[in-house]
Amino acid sequence: MNDAIITALEERVLKIRINRPDKKNAITSSMYSAMAEAFERAGKDKSIRVIYMSGTGDLFTSGNDIMDFIRNPPSGDTSPVSLYLKAIAEAGKPVVAAVRGNAVGIGTTMLLHFDLVYAGEGARFHLPFVNLGLVPEAGSSMLLPLVSGSRRAGELLLLGEPFDAKSACEAGIVNTVYPDDSVEMEAWKKAKTLAEKPPEALQLTKSLMKRRLLSAVKDTMAEEGRLFAERLASPEASEAFKAFLEKRKPDFSKF
Ligand code: COA
Repeated sequence: MNDAIITALEERVLKIRINRPDKKNAITSSMYSAMAEAFERAGKDKSIRVIYMSGTGDLFTSGNDIMDFIRNPPSGDTSPVSLYLKAIAEAGKPVVAAVRGNAVGIGTTMLLHFDLVYAGEGARFHLPFVNLGLVPEAGSSMLLPLVSGSRRAGELLLLGEPFDAKSACEAGIVNTVYPDDSVEMEAWKKAKTLAEKPPEALQLTKSLMKRRLLSAVKDTMAEEGRLFAERLASPEASEAFKAFLEKRKPDFSKF
């Protein structure tokens, strides 16, 4: 049981809600573990047909908890974040997400694994890995160029500037943009529609769309994970994290 990740089974849909509003829904190791467990449960339980992801309050997630990056850096295939990434890459049941407000770092990259993604018009996406002295994760260095094209992916990953819901839709990260106050209801309707479909046909169709990519995604995630762990210990990342905690602009001029 983890209060920061709330799960509920409703109308054959497993709802997973990121619930840590005081820290902008930043995700800690224990939260990754809880989400990985929820995906595992969904895989095993025949009564669950669809997974629905959302965040509490006016944002999806501010990404990995920065303090956790410092105190509890992920290492190896069995780290909570690696297990969560494996779970979303391999999920057999369709995943629908409703994104309101900020979706930073893994808040954006996890969406590349989901099947249907709906955003509120005020949603803001951000892939700040380079700015933090890091490299992309969740297979995004491969999936984003595939989904958005290499020109746009280069801009989003190298410049690392936030982008709005309309741009995310144009980049193929989001299916549809809705008004902020109706996006959760619209995404929930899609999840329920999927849950009423013949489950075997639905899951086989998802599997057919994903299977050729899966081994390449896993290879990419392994390489990204190795570099990411190295980068977390780099002086560049250390300056970026210190700057965030001290609420100042980082200074990379000395590197
Ligand atoms: N990890 C840890 N704490 C975080 C966090 C994160 N990723 N994102 C926000 N918080 C904390 C802040 O430290 C602050 O805590 P405090 O009240 O104890 O000082 C609190 O959440 C509110 O954050 P704040 O930055 O004041 O909110 P905001 O509305 O001005 O900005 C964001 C929201 C999401 C744009 C901003 O918090 C942000 O950029 N967060 C970092 C995102 C990031 O780099 N994530 C890592 C990706 S790899």
